[in-house]
Amino acid sequence: METFQGVKLWKADCESTMEHKEKQVYTMLVQLTRPRKILQLCSLSTESIGMLCDYLPDDGCLVTSDICPAKEKKIQKRKGTKEEILKELAALGEQYDMVFIDATEENPINYYNLIMSGNMLRMNGVICVQNASTSSQEGIDDETGFMSKEMTDVIKADARVEQVKLPSNCGIFIGRRISLSQTSHPLKGIVEDDVFRGFGGHGILDRLRLDGKVAYVTGGGQGIGRAFGHALGEAGAKVAIVDMDLEKAEAVAHELHLKGINSVAMAADISKEEDVKRVVDAIVANWGRIDIACNNAGINMNSASEDTTLEEWDKTFNVNLRGLFICCQAAGRVMLSQGYGKIINTASMASLIVPHPQKQLAYNTSKAGVVKLTQTLGTEWIDRGVRVNCISPGIVDTPLIHSEALKPLVKRWLADIPAGRLAQVTDLQAAVVYLASEASDYMTGHNLVIDGGQSLW
Ligand SMILES: NC(=O)c1ccc[n+]([C@@H]2O[C@H](COP(=O)([O-])OP(=O)(O)OC[C@H]3O[C@@H](n4cnc5c(N)ncnc54)[C@H](O)[C@@H]3O)[C@@H](O)[C@H]2O)c1
Repeated sequence: METFQGVKLWKADCESTMEHKEKQVYTMLVQLTRPRKILQLCSLSTESIGMLCDYLPDDGCLVTSDICPAKEKKIQKRKGTKEEILKELAALGEQYDMVFIDATEENPINYYNLIMSGNMLRMNGVICVQNASTSSQEGIDDETGFMSKEMTDVIKADARVEQVKLPSNCGIFIGRRISLSQTSHPLKGIVEDDVFRGFGGHGILDRLRLDGKVAYVTGGGQGIGRAFGHALGEAGAKVAIVDMDLEKAEAVAHELHLKGINSVAMAADISKEEDVKRVVDAIVANWGRIDIACNNAGINMNSASEDTTLEEWDKTFNVNLRGLFICCQAAGRVMLSQGYGKIINTASMASLIVPHPQKQLAYNTSKAGVVKLTQTLGTEWIDRGVRVNCISPGIVDTPLIHSEALKPLVKRWLADIPAGRLAQVTDLQAAVVYLASEASDYMTGHNLVIDGGQSLW
C-alpha cells in the first residue's frame, strides 16, 4: 500500500484476477460509504474481508454467517442457518450499512426479502449481490443462471432500492436503500407533507449540510476556532481561517486542505476595522459571498476588579466586544445585500454566571455584551434573511485556560460541572454546524449554552 504524508492510500493496479477485482470494487465502495456495520451472507475472499475490517471504525463490526478467515476482533460470527441468523438480527432491530449476498445460493430471494422486510438495510445502505446475472448470462439455461436472473429481477423491481449492475464481468450488482418519501408516485394513505418528504425534499441530515457555502472563522488558528473551521469544512463549506497569528491560521488551512476542504488563511487583528474590512473584501472578491460568519476570537485576562486597569479593560473589550461588533457589521452588510447569512458569535458561560474563583470582571462583562449584541442584531436583521446567534461554551480545554495562573483551578472547576469533565472543542462542533445550516433558520438572537450543566448548579 502506498502512503502520502503517513496516510495509507489504496490504489487500483492492473491485476485482473476476480478476487482482486472484487476487492477493488468493495474498497471503493467502503471508502465512499464509510460503513460501520456490515452483514456478510456469502463468502468473500480473505483479501476483501481483511480490507473491510481495516476500513471499519473501531466500534464497527462485520457480522458473518461464513467461516471467519482470521481472528479479527471486528468480526462477529453468528451460528445457525442464514435464515435463522436473519430472523434473529431482525428481531434485535439490527441495521446494516452494507450487506453482501450471493445470487446463486439457495434461497437468495428469501434472504433479500427478510433483509428488506426486517428493515435491516439502513437508509442509504448498500446491498452487494455477488454473481448477479450479466447480460451475457441472461439467456443462459442452467439453474444457477436462472436463480441469478430471478434474484436480480426481484431487486430491479423493488422501488426501495436504487441499483446498478457493474459493467464488468465480475458479476456484482449493487443496490442502495432509498427512502420512498423521495418517489414521485403518489403513495396511498400517506400524508405527503414536509415532514414526510423532508423540508425542500431534504431529510434532516442533508439540511445540516453546508455544501457550497462560504464561511470564515476568526481566532481559527487554534482551540475552539480551529474545531469550528474543521466542522464547517467537513459539513461542506469553504472556510477562511482568520487569525492574528498567520502561521497558526496557515497550519489550520493546510489541515483543511488535506481533508479536501477549500480553505484559505488570512492574518487580521479583528479589533482593527481596516483589518476586518480587508478580510471581508478579500473573501467576497475570491469566493463571491459570505454565508457564515463565525466571530470567535476572544481574549481573557484575569485580575481582581479593584486591580483591573483601564488598559486591561479596553484590551478585553476591544477584541471581545468592539472587535466582534466590527466583524458582525462588516459581514452583516454583505449578508444583508445577499438577503441571506448566518452569524455565529462565541460568547461564554461567563455571560450567565460568574465563574470562580478566578477573577475576570472585564471578560465576564464583555461576554454578557456579546449576548445582548447577538439578541439585538438577531431581531434587527432576521426579516432581511440574516440570523445572528451565539454559542456559550463552559470551560473548554484549550490553550486559553492553560496559563500557569489557571492550571491549579481545574480540580475546583470540575467539582462545579455536573458532567464531571471539562468541555472538549469537539463538544461544540455540532452546534456551529446547526447554527450555520438552513435547519436553524427560525432561530435568531439565541444563546446556545454548552457547559456540561455548569451554569445550572
Ligand atoms: N476556552 C474556554 O474555556 C472558553 C470558554 C468560553 C468561551 N470561550 C471563548 O471562545 C473563543 C475561543 O477561545 P479559545 O479557548 O479557543 O481561545 P485560544 O486562546 O485557544 O484561541 C484564540 C485564538 O484567537 C486568536 N486571536 C486572539 N485575539 C485576536 C484578534 N484580536 N484578532 C484575531 N485573532 C485573535 C489567537 O491568536 C488564537 O489563535 C473566545 O472568544 C473565548 O472567549 C473560551
